[in-house]
Amino acid sequence: MLHRLLESRLQAAVAAVLPDADPALVRVRPCPEPRFGDYQSNALMSLAKARGQNPRTLAAAVVGKLDVHDLSHLVEVAGPGFLNFHLRPEALAAALQAAARGEHLFFRPASVPRTVVVDFSSPNVAKPMHVGHIRSTILGDCLARVLRLLGHRVITDNHLGDWGTQFGKLIVGWKRHRDDAALARDPVGEMERLYRLVNQACERDPAVLEAARQELVKLQQGDPENRAIWQRMLELSREQFDAIYRRLGVRFDHTLGESFYNPRLRAVVEELVARGIARESDGAQVVFFEEDPELKAHPAIIQKSDGAANYATTDLATLAHRLETWHPDEIIYVTDARQQLHFKQIFAIFRRWHPEARIVLAHVWFGSILGPDGKPFKTRAGDTIKLADLLDEAEERAFRLVTEKNPALPEAERRAIARQVGLGAVKYQDLLPNRQSDYVFDWDKMLALSGNTAPYLQYAHTRIRSIFRKLAETGESWDLRAAAPLLQPADPAERTLARHLLYFGHTLEAVATEYRPNYLCNYLYELAGHFSDFYEACPVLRETGATRTRRLALCELTARVLQTGLHALGIETPERM
Ligand code: ARG
Repeated sequence: MLHRLLESRLQAAVAAVLPDADPALVRVRPCPEPRFGDYQSNALMSLAKARGQNPRTLAAAVVGKLDVHDLSHLVEVAGPGFLNFHLRPEALAAALQAAARGEHLFFRPASVPRTVVVDFSSPNVAKPMHVGHIRSTILGDCLARVLRLLGHRVITDNHLGDWGTQFGKLIVGWKRHRDDAALARDPVGEMERLYRLVNQACERDPAVLEAARQELVKLQQGDPENRAIWQRMLELSREQFDAIYRRLGVRFDHTLGESFYNPRLRAVVEELVARGIARESDGAQVVFFEEDPELKAHPAIIQKSDGAANYATTDLATLAHRLETWHPDEIIYVTDARQQLHFKQIFAIFRRWHPEARIVLAHVWFGSILGPDGKPFKTRAGDTIKLADLLDEAEERAFRLVTEKNPALPEAERRAIARQVGLGAVKYQDLLPNRQSDYVFDWDKMLALSGNTAPYLQYAHTRIRSIFRKLAETGESWDLRAAAPLLQPADPAERTLARHLLYFGHTLEAVATEYRPNYLCNYLYELAGHFSDFYEACPVLRETGATRTRRLALCELTARVLQTGLHALGIETPERM
């Protein structure tokens, strides 16, 4: 797209002036302040700084070598050394026309597709999925969608917590206290009850604790009865997780889970010891990070003194497996902020283990969801809120909203719309804040039809669709392709809208490289705003001839970008609301 074209021209000019400069540092982005231009680069300032040169002088020299006359009629050196590009109307029109002909939707698939593993959601077996897992699920799914849209090969892997010491207690509970009726009604709820019961008993009674320990050892040694119980708990949990994923429209290519790596753990430890990366300390095998100021005080245990492996061992084995199986260029782990140290350790150990590997390892972490009181989001009784209940409530509230707006629609249709609006609202509220900050869960705000919300964007989309329904009612035929030659923005509101459409590709790329879906949320919100200004200033169906055709084409392109963008966020777009 245009930012890429300008970027490659600018890189050529920079290479002519500074042959040693790294072209990857020369980037062009939409101008954050539209009145200064359409695209901007701040690359020359840092290049000049690194060389002790005057940035404006360097900028002037680069502009002297720059050949962008076909795209930009004016390149200004601004402020301390920004370059501002003003697009030629013909360049803007050419991009719109190509989009109308179906050649692109303002983004291009990556020229070199990458293989990216996204490790997300990853709830724990025998525990209900709670709001804490919602962010991982929603963020991870969105990143996977955006990467796919950009043409990358994406592999999603749900790293279920399906192994660990909790199974000793769970098996004791299962054998001694299981209530089959409750298990049939709410399997995960019953398993949670069993765990709590035995956990409390363990605190009072050392005999129960010892029983749990023995059941765990039996499970680990492959005792058939305990394996079968564990297997059953796994199946029951997966059924409930899968029901939520279906509801949310989230799918995984793989759900290997921690237990999958058990056969490999010993070899990982042995290899790290043999290579001198791990060493014995108080009976445990430990990796020390003496050279690393940040990790120096945080050695990582990869085998406990009782010989057991742990979460870190499993993640190292998982990495090795992914590397051999999928040869990824990048692995993205989406978890809450509390796991930062864990992933820093894993990544540091991996770099020593495979110094030759060029893979990008990213821990994409996020903050908490807070209740209205600013404390972690809980029910009135202080329990964690279950995801399924939360989604039910979202749909119910959205149903009331849709009914209020559109009481005449048949109930089944209102229900269907409410599902899309309710789930969309929950997802969007989660994707909109900077992922690293906490946010307050707020029903009224997320479901508002005005403001930066999913319902607002879905509504904006339905408004455009209704223009085309009206058009169809008149019996007039409409063909975006045929309209392409007329796409030459005339009115300022048309131009502002068109220019923003062009920025879609840059936004998607920024989401993928910085793992920040909020960029896409804000882009779409601005798009809806520009559309509404355009629609106010520029009548569409009341016009005739070329003006009508041109404006209809802008409407349709906007609807397509809104729809594609919302789908990349995992949000559906109803035809009416
Ligand atoms: N099951 C873990 C939890 O709920 C998250 C796993 C994240 N992925 C990983 N490869 N460690 O905290």
